[in-house]
Amino acid sequence: MSAFQTAIVPAAGLGTRFLPTTKAVPKELLPVVDTPGIELVATEAAEAGATKLVIVTSPGKDAVAEYFRPQPELEATLEERGKTDLLAKVRRAPNLLTVETAVQDKALGLGHAVGCAEGNLTGADEAVAVLLPDDLVLPTGALKKMAAVREKLGGSVLCAFDIPKEQISAYGVFDVRDTGDDDVKQVVGMVEKPKPEDAPSTFAAAGRYLLDRAIFDALKRITPGAGGELQLTDAIALLINEGHPVHVVVHRGGRHDLGNPGGFLKAAVDFALEHPDYGPELGEWLRARLANS
Ligand code: UTP
Repeated sequence: MSAFQTAIVPAAGLGTRFLPTTKAVPKELLPVVDTPGIELVATEAAEAGATKLVIVTSPGKDAVAEYFRPQPELEATLEERGKTDLLAKVRRAPNLLTVETAVQDKALGLGHAVGCAEGNLTGADEAVAVLLPDDLVLPTGALKKMAAVREKLGGSVLCAFDIPKEQISAYGVFDVRDTGDDDVKQVVGMVEKPKPEDAPSTFAAAGRYLLDRAIFDALKRITPGAGGELQLTDAIALLINEGHPVHVVVHRGGRHDLGNPGGFLKAAVDFALEHPDYGPELGEWLRARLANS
C-alpha cells in the first residue's frame, strides 16, 4: 500500500507570465514537444502510487479536466485508420488514474487551491501528494523517496534542490537540521527568497509535497501572506511550529520551470533533443543557428 493514494494538482492560477496565450489556453496544456505538462506530472503521480488525481481548476479552465476524459469518436476514427501509435497516445492520459476536479472560484493562492481539494478526499487519505504542474522534477521518482521517508519518520515530507548559494534568492529556502542521511533533512523553518548572506541553507523548495492530512486544518488557520495570497508554505510553517515532523528529501537531479516562457522553451528543447523523431534534426539546426548568432 502506497503512503498516499490521492495526488492534488493545483491548476487554477492565472498564468499571467504566459499572457496573452493564457487568455484562452491554460498553461498546463501547453505541449512539451507533443504532451501537455500536466500529463507528465500526472504520469509521475501514477508511477509513485497515486490512484486518484484531483485537479484544482478555475471556472473557464475546463479544458484541463477535459484532456483526461476519453474521446470515443476520435479513438474510433484513429482505430479505423490504423493509427495505433496515435491511438495509444490519445488513450494514455485517461488511463493513468481516476481524475476528479475541485473548483477554486478565485485565485487566492496555492494554499487556498490545495484546501479546495479537501472535499475530494476519503477517510482513507491520511496523506496527500501535491504536485505543481509547472515544475518538472527530473528524473522522476522523488515522490517515491518522499513516501519512504514518511513511512519511516511520519509527518510531512517536502522536496528540495541543493542550489548554488549565489542563485538562492530566487527560491523558498529551508532551515534544516541533519538526520544522519545526506539526502534527508529535518525542516525547522522556511524563508522566502532570502539574500544569499541571510539564507539558512542552500536547500530550495521544489513543487512536490507529501502532506499529512493535518495540512487541511492548518490551511483553515492561516491568513493571507506574501502577495496577499493564502500560501501553502505558511500552513507548513504553522505545522512545524506546532511540532509536526517535516522533512525534506534532497533531490539530486534537474528541473524545468514550465511557468514562464523562458523556462518552458528550455524544457521543450531538452525533451525534443531526446526525442527520436525530432532530436537529430533539431540538434543539427540548433548548432547551425548558434554558429550564425
Ligand atoms: P504559480 O504562481 O506558478 O502560477 O503557481 P500562476 O499564478 O498561474 O502563474 P503566474 O505567476 O500568474 O504566471 C503554482 C501553481 O499553483 C496554481 C497554479 O495554477 C500553478 O500550477 N495556483 C496558484 C492555483 O491553483 N491557485 C492559485 O490561487 C495560485
